[in-house]
This record gives sequence, structure tokens and C-alpha cells, in this order.
Amino acid sequence: MKLSIIGTGYLGATHAAAMSSLGFEVIGIDVDPAKIELLRAGKVPFFEPGLEELLLQEVNSGRLKFSTNFADAKNCEIHFICVGTPQQKGSLAADLKYVESAVDAIAPHAKAGSLVVGKSTVPVGTAARLAQQLVELGSPAELAWNPEFLREGFAVEDTLRPNRLVVGVTSDRAENLLKLAYKPLLDNGVPWIRADLATAELVKVAANSFLATKISFINAMAEICETTGGDVTVLAKAIGYDPRIGSRFLQAGIGFGGGCLPKDIRAFMARSEELGAQQSLEFLREIDSINLRARQRMIDLVRLDLDEDLKGRKIAVLGAAFKPDSDDVRDSPALDISDQISKAGGAVTVFDPKANANASLRFPHLTYAASIEACMSGAEIVLHLTEWKEFRAIDPIKAKSLVARANIIDGRNALDREAWERAGWHFRALGRATR
Ligand code: UGA
Repeated sequence: MKLSIIGTGYLGATHAAAMSSLGFEVIGIDVDPAKIELLRAGKVPFFEPGLEELLLQEVNSGRLKFSTNFADAKNCEIHFICVGTPQQKGSLAADLKYVESAVDAIAPHAKAGSLVVGKSTVPVGTAARLAQQLVELGSPAELAWNPEFLREGFAVEDTLRPNRLVVGVTSDRAENLLKLAYKPLLDNGVPWIRADLATAELVKVAANSFLATKISFINAMAEICETTGGDVTVLAKAIGYDPRIGSRFLQAGIGFGGGCLPKDIRAFMARSEELGAQQSLEFLREIDSINLRARQRMIDLVRLDLDEDLKGRKIAVLGAAFKPDSDDVRDSPALDISDQISKAGGAVTVFDPKANANASLRFPHLTYAASIEACMSGAEIVLHLTEWKEFRAIDPIKAKSLVARANIIDGRNALDREAWERAGWHFRALGRATR
């Protein structure tokens, strides 16, 4: 079977390399010639553990090719649409222009009997509309939806060993073709869920809304711990032992960011309003507010430690990516906090093991250090904002000799508090009383 992957960002590049590794002939298509050049050379334009090795292996095998020409996909049985659906400027809704133009571009080339399968995260009702778009364009291809649940940092693992496969289809033929494409995964026991188009679209936004809710729930508990002298890390551990609750995604801190969770819950709210069902998702507004409040609480702690005076104060920020093992800085809580402190007059120096370059493109006014040591040097306070393992490995005794004042705030509740305190640091964290 021949497959095309339209859009070669995080999702598409990973899907292309993974499907090729399952033995299919794959063509990755993108409108960005520079990206296609890199991918052809076996290079990934972003940091994702394990992806470059897999991509290079597949390009060298001859199964995986890349092109900017949609006509090169004409012999494919399945066209996977993997383009972005970012938040619209000035609105909570998702911008669907890339999905719509991908369907427009592939329609004249998709052969009879082929499937156009959306993987992008879209508002419910989009797939039915795109199916109609294909008909109006005179395309013989059929539309299906197959949401993607991969996490950045684990993209290869999540694509080749997903915890479920969900397909929204309108015919047995479409389901069977998708089953063929995913046969190696199904043979390994991955659960298969057939749904209608609307349910398949909803599964994705419901899953991300639930994850966002879990994080904001524990961050709301962190706020309560702060006012009562409790410790949210102990609380999370204790409730997590109940298997109905579970311990994952209960890491309190500066909250969720990235290209998915924030924009997905907002787009879901916007869609529910269009449908007259806003009441059902009213709670997501609170999830979003709790999340943004966590960033503000972090800034309040910095002000507290610096006697309310940020002007010219040397502040070291560890982390720029929205999460570790990624160089993605889209809606990064770490950078939002750094930016706000810098705008209030703080002299902020940021270090991230992988995301310095991306961060400096978006926030050129911040200073970037080339190492942990350079970042901390002379600082009056250190903020731990992305939980890279490199930061957990810092020796607090050695680090103390670098800074002007041994103040640290753990915005991710991931550092060994006892070790830092033993070394003489004044240690604060979100959701934990200061000792
Ligand atoms: C998320 C979902 O987890 C994926 O299942 C989904 O496929 C993806 O969005 C998507 O829609 O494409 P991702 O954005 O890669 O994946 O990141 P997550 O691991 O979900 O983390 C999101 C944010 O939540 C990060 O900023 C992370 O630091 C934060 N987080 C996560 C917490 O603050 N606490 C936690 O306990 C867990």
C-alpha cells in the first residue's frame, strides 16, 4: 500500500517515518520547500528523541520520500492530513485554513477508491464538511477521521505503540483500508475503535480536555495548599494511589502549555458556543483560568523573594520549552513567565538544553545563556520552569557558588527540595509552604 502524509510538522514527520518503518511506501508532502529539503536529507527540523534516527533509516531504505508536489501522491491508497490547526488570532476558535487547503490540494490527485484521512485536531463537524468539500470538488476519494494522540517527546513511541486507534468512518470499506494500514499495530494488540466522524473528532478534544482538567485540578489544590500551609506534592501522591484517580498528570506547577492543550480546550469552547451548547463546557473556562493563574502565582513568588522590586534584578530561568525533551516553545509557560518578569524590569537570563534557538526567535529581548552555569552566574534568584533531567542533576552545593543569592523557586515540583535546602538554598515551590 502507498500512503501520502500531507503536512510534515511534529505529527506528519513522525507519522511518515513510522508508517514507512512498518513497510509501506510513503510520500510526505509539504508546501514548505526548505522543510522538504531537510527531510529528504534525513534531517528533522525540530527536536524529537529517536525521530531523526528513524527518519534517516527510512529515507535510506528508499520507502520514504518527500515532495512539495501533490501530484506525486496520485497513486496512494490513503492520504493522511497532518497539518496544523492553530488558534485563530483574536478568537478562541481553531484556524482551519491549512486543513481546508490540504483537502483542496489533494482532491484533484486522489484516485478512485482512495481515502483522505484527517489526523489533525479539528472542531466537531469539520470532517462532515470536508467530506462535502471533496464531493463538490468532484473527487472520488472518501473521507475518514483518525485522531492522533501522540505526545511530544514520545512521538515515535506513541505512534508505533499507541494506547488505542480511533477511526471515524462512514463505510466498512474505509474501516477495512485503515485496518490494513495499521495491521502491524493491531497484530500487537492495540485496541481498535470504530466511530462515526463526529465521535472520532470529539474523542480527541475530550481526551485533551480531560488531561487539561487533571492538571488544573491539581493546580487548584496547589492554590488551596498555599493558603492552608499544605503540600500539594504529598496530596497528589496520596490521592494518586486510588486507581480511580491515578497518579499521572497530577504534577502541580506552572501549568500546561504547548501547541495542543491550551488551543484545543479553547477551540472546544468556541465550537460549543456555535452549537448552542456552551453550558456543557463552561468548566473549561475555569480550567484555562486556573492554568494561567499558575503563571501569575509564580511571578508573585518571585516578587515576594525580591521584596517586590524586579527592576534590574538578575533572574536565572532554567527552561524555555513547554515541556522537557522538546524544543517546542509554543505557548510555553516558562517563556510567558520570563517575558512578564522582563517587561516588569527584571534582567532575565534563560537556559534550555534544546529550545534556546526557538525561544530567542519568539522572545529576542530576553538574554540566553549557553550553559546552566552561565545562566545561574550572579543570579539573585533561580526559577526552575521546565523539568529537564539536566536540571534535576544540578549539584546544589556547586550551584550555590555561582549565584549572588541562594534563592530558588521550583515551578515544576521536580527538584529534590531536601538536597537544595541542605546546601543552604532558600527553597520555594508552587503549592508547598515555605519552611
Ligand atoms: C498533548 C496530549 O498529552 C497528547 O495526548 C496529544 O496527542 C497532544 O497534546 C496533541 O493534541 O497533539 P503534548 O502537548 O505533547 O501532548 O504534551 P503533554 O505531555 O500533554 O503536556 C502538556 C503540558 O502540560 C506541558 O506544558 C506539561 O508541562 C504540562 N503538564 C503535564 C503539567 O503541568 N502537569 C502534568 O502533570 C502533566
